[in-house]
Amino acid sequence: MSLEGPRPPSRPSGSRGRGRQARHVVVTAGPTREHIDPVRYLSNESSGRMGFEIARAAAERGFRVTLISGPAHLETPRGVTRLDVTSAREMLVAARAAFRGADALFMAAAVADWRPARRLAGKWRAKDGGRARAQIDLVRNPDVLATLARTKRGRLVVGFALETGNGERRALAKLRRKKLDYIVLNDDSALNASRTTVSILGSDGSVRRLDDRPKKAVARVLVDLAGQAT
Ligand code: CTP
Repeated sequence: MSLEGPRPPSRPSGSRGRGRQARHVVVTAGPTREHIDPVRYLSNESSGRMGFEIARAAAERGFRVTLISGPAHLETPRGVTRLDVTSAREMLVAARAAFRGADALFMAAAVADWRPARRLAGKWRAKDGGRARAQIDLVRNPDVLATLARTKRGRLVVGFALETGNGERRALAKLRRKKLDYIVLNDDSALNASRTTVSILGSDGSVRRLDDRPKKAVARVLVDLAGQAT
């Protein structure tokens, strides 16, 4: 990967030299929902804004963009192909298929690490026996990012980490463990906000901090990474 100045998208999408026009970027966004029963689920506070801004910035730069979104109340940016999913396992299926023909992955979704071991067909009646406690048995979800990064073969893979303490050390450990090119570290002030402070940590040891910027501006910087990765 070259890290010279930004240049416009040029390499054909999905593979070298098949002659398609725009380069193809896959972006994931939003939370996932892991259902307990038909009306209850486990999820998180992600709004999806960061991912949607990346998708918008990539489309504005002339990339072909597939946005895979968990439940999010946001408008699809112009020129972006959006696929809606609910659970982590659905996100894995959709992202794997999209990444097969793509040049870069921005994994901004807040994928739930756990899901209920069973999804009940009818409503959960835990309180019916008068009990004061109940348990939900959880199983690990697949790690979408780590799974796709194993198939990257020179393509750009960017992950995100939300940390509340010891952030940089933990984020770097994730970067290495998941074999990413970059990890975007932010803290919980980013949740549901339109501005954020991030550090973009590279596998090459680079660190770039962006302080209190609109997510739109952060998105443009991130999309530049895909412009450079040819
Ligand atoms: N991720 C994923 N699949 C999961 C969990 C996370 O693809 N099952 C991705 C996220 O989209 C994000 C990165 O991995 O790009 C975050 O890594 P993770 O290890 O889950 O860290 P955090 O979400 O920050 O949470 P925690 O520290 O609690 O693990």
